[in-house]
Amino acid sequence: KHHSLAVIPGDGIGPEIMNEAMKVLQLIEEMHGGFKFDIQSFNWNCEYYLKHGKMMPDNGMEILKDFDVILFGAVGEPRVPDHISVWELILPIRKTFEQYVNMRPIKLLKGLESPLRHKSHDDLDFVVIRENTEGEYSNMGGRLHQNTPYEIAVQNNVFTRYGTERIVKYAYEYASCHNVKRLTAATKSNAMNHSMTFWDDIVKEISQQYNTIETNLYHIDALAAYFVSNPEKFDVVVASNLFGDILTDLGAAIVGGLGLAPSGNINPEQKYPSMFEPIHGSAPDIAGKGIANPIAQIWSVGMMMDHLGYSELNHLILESIENVLVDGKVRTPDLGGTATTSDMGDAILERLRTL
Ligand code: NAI
Ligand code: MG
Repeated sequence: KHHSLAVIPGDGIGPEIMNEAMKVLQLIEEMHGGFKFDIQSFNWNCEYYLKHGKMMPDNGMEILKDFDVILFGAVGEPRVPDHISVWELILPIRKTFEQYVNMRPIKLLKGLESPLRHKSHDDLDFVVIRENTEGEYSNMGGRLHQNTPYEIAVQNNVFTRYGTERIVKYAYEYASCHNVKRLTAATKSNAMNHSMTFWDDIVKEISQQYNTIETNLYHIDALAAYFVSNPEKFDVVVASNLFGDILTDLGAAIVGGLGLAPSGNINPEQKYPSMFEPIHGSAPDIAGKGIANPIAQIWSVGMMMDHLGYSELNHLILESIENVLVDGKVRTPDLGGTATTSDMGDAILERLRTL
């Protein structure tokens, strides 16, 4: 079976960690034998922008549309404003391809300790399902009277019934399929009295159809505190675009850091390609040094395999990562070691070969 894969390494540490992910992909392809990836790589990044004045060619989305899946690294570098690199590359892909589910596991891997003392591996194992196409990251708004004392900036939040119902439904369906008994929804309806009261209403409406699942609506500020004080409260957390974005960087921090956190931008209807990427950015502070942790990118390959129907390979990849962490000899600096990006990739590859 053939799968077409678009690879976009991006900027900064993106290409460095993507390199390790590609080694892993090649190995599982050889080991499994039952599928083949037709890979095309695209250099759409800030370098491309500086040359062409745009992050991708005009027909970029047209080109990507025909792929089965997309593997993404990270974009952003100091010479290009972040809102340009994000709004012209990642956000159009997520929005146009209706990747309305951003699936972000928060899981303390074997071999690692959480910075939260007294929290065990069982306490730290849940998923955040982030709305990925609308909400706070809408392009509606503007700036008036720029650079005057009367300047005004407005960024509207857009919550549609269609967009909100589908993400909340997905979260309940996910909980139900995984035999999860509790679902938490992030809100802030005490202060955001239009958009978030609407969000709460939809959550309550849909919860009626899942009466074996306990629903908790928590305000985002309290919820952030619970992530640190009581992470064992959570199994499935559903959140709007901005809230989910912030919560998952926090989630990554409580399980060992940004270098460990993968994600899937999923179009559940499979009408368009889904995209897999680490949740972190291009980390300009460590780019070019060869010391970035490739685990988030490699685990993203695992999530991609799961999405394509090879869940056993996702488990194998995760087991290899955990074996290396338990062994503890090879660790990148973010995990307190001195290993390079490729040392880490090679160690995972070695385990994968022998599992
Ligand atoms: P960042 O996630 O790139 O970095 C935050 C901190 O985490 C840095 O200290 C960095 O060194 C560390 N870190 C991140 N990934 C790591 C890894 N794999 N191994 C070891 N350490 C790692 O976030 P920041 O600094 O806010 O943004 C940098 C650039 O990335 C900006 O241009 C931003 O717009 C962009 N960005 C892109 C994203 C994407 O492509 N999806 C997501 C978030 C930010
Ligand atoms: Mg983020």
